[in-house]
Amino acid sequence: MSNIVIVGTQWGDEGKGKIVDLITERFDVVARYQGGHNAGHTVAIEGRKYVLHLIPSGILRPGKVCIIGNGVVLDPVAFIDEVGTLESAGIGVEGRLYVSNRAHLIMPYHRAVETAEENALKEKIGTTSRGIGPSYEDKMGRRGIRVADLLYPDRFRAKVRANVEFKNSILCSVYHSEALNADEIADSYIGMASRVLPFVTDTAEYLNLAIRQGKSVLFEGAQGTLLDVDHGTYPFVTSSSATAGGACIGTGVGPSLIDGVIGIAKAYTTRVGGGPFPTELTDQVGHQIQQKGAEFGASTGRPRRCGWFDAVVVRYAALINDLTTLVITKLDVLDQVEEIKICVGYEFMGQKLSFFPTDISVLSEVKPIYETHPGWKQDTSRIRRYEELPALAKSYLARLSELVDADISIISTGPNRSETIILEESPRLQKLFASRG
Ligand code: GDP
Ligand code: IMO
Ligand code: MG
Repeated sequence: MSNIVIVGTQWGDEGKGKIVDLITERFDVVARYQGGHNAGHTVAIEGRKYVLHLIPSGILRPGKVCIIGNGVVLDPVAFIDEVGTLESAGIGVEGRLYVSNRAHLIMPYHRAVETAEENALKEKIGTTSRGIGPSYEDKMGRRGIRVADLLYPDRFRAKVRANVEFKNSILCSVYHSEALNADEIADSYIGMASRVLPFVTDTAEYLNLAIRQGKSVLFEGAQGTLLDVDHGTYPFVTSSSATAGGACIGTGVGPSLIDGVIGIAKAYTTRVGGGPFPTELTDQVGHQIQQKGAEFGASTGRPRRCGWFDAVVVRYAALINDLTTLVITKLDVLDQVEEIKICVGYEFMGQKLSFFPTDISVLSEVKPIYETHPGWKQDTSRIRRYEELPALAKSYLARLSELVDADISIISTGPNRSETIILEESPRLQKLFASRG
């Protein structure tokens, strides 16, 4: 088997969790490489819903090993909570869940700084308020505290004290917020250490050994390409490398060991939080999609903004991630839509743009160029074979594939595992699922 990255091609919530759960069957190990508990990956199995935030969605498949890589930022409270939720649902994690000793911790002062910063912004990012951004800031600022630091309580306390002193100076003098107590924070984290440390190991070493022993790894991306800190709609992004390249940095596995990239795209587009969204629908059709697609955030419960499929966005994502193949999810959500539009390009100041713009002030002002397709007005959720899809649904999918310049090999028509059309005969899919040669 190969080593494959799963990546979101839009603004997150594309259905990565469902697809990871579905194909984990064919892999030995599933590894998260970036983000933290800002992610919300929902998996439906036999009518039961599981929401994973930090732990890879692969955990729902018995016996599979799951890794939280060095590129993830870990809030121990969220981690302990999620382990508890899984165990009470009868999903044992012992002996098959590992956390990188190099992963950075999210500390209470990260959340405090984030809240203060967001409150002060005129144009808000609309973050998940989980402390993700400030934790990555400290990592890059070389003052972060890592999971491995929990092994040495005295050293850990000294680091917390130094950081809290620094954060308090910002919180109090810039934001006029309350000061935090370093020793209370250190005590609570040292108290949680015994519930985190049993999972901690050098996951880079683990993964590299596993791959060299012939095991296959599925790298589970969180967020999406347009939320990537480098390639996304900066500054309306998350603070990590959500694109496929992040898989190497966030796990310590070299690029030549990765055999392919599966991009996930919804049959339309959604976005949570602030930032430009050229194909956003604020009318009744947008509302219809939001209701039928149950487009409410899995982490924060916020309504997701909905809009038409933006082929400029997904074509850009196909390029940045060098997609081997594309999965289209939530096709069923469009089942009853009368007329479906696809954005095939952008117009800006009377000119057609040839590439996805870097500058968000441009992106905020582009006029989407639409193509209109008649809806198929038929239930697709029970269809298991591509040939049985309505002709209009097939032509919609073919047009998406052509516009984004990527092969479509899996189509999802419902949240459950069985509600999926897998084009097993697709040569690209076969290559991905074949053994490393
Ligand atoms: P992720 O963050 O990319 O894993 O996506 P989320 O889990 O946040 O959001 C996707 C939502 O759509 C979840 O509630 C899934 O259960 C659901 N879902 C996934 N695929 C499909 C599909 O094909 N059809 C429908 N109706 N729902 C789906
Ligand atoms: P999954 O993995 C959708 C968005 C937030 C906000 C921006 C920055 O479920 O697809 P952050 O808290 O990360 O600093 O917020 O990123 N965001 C997501 N949107 N899906 C996600 O994850 C997201 N994770 C963060 O709404 O706009
Ligand atoms: Mg999500």
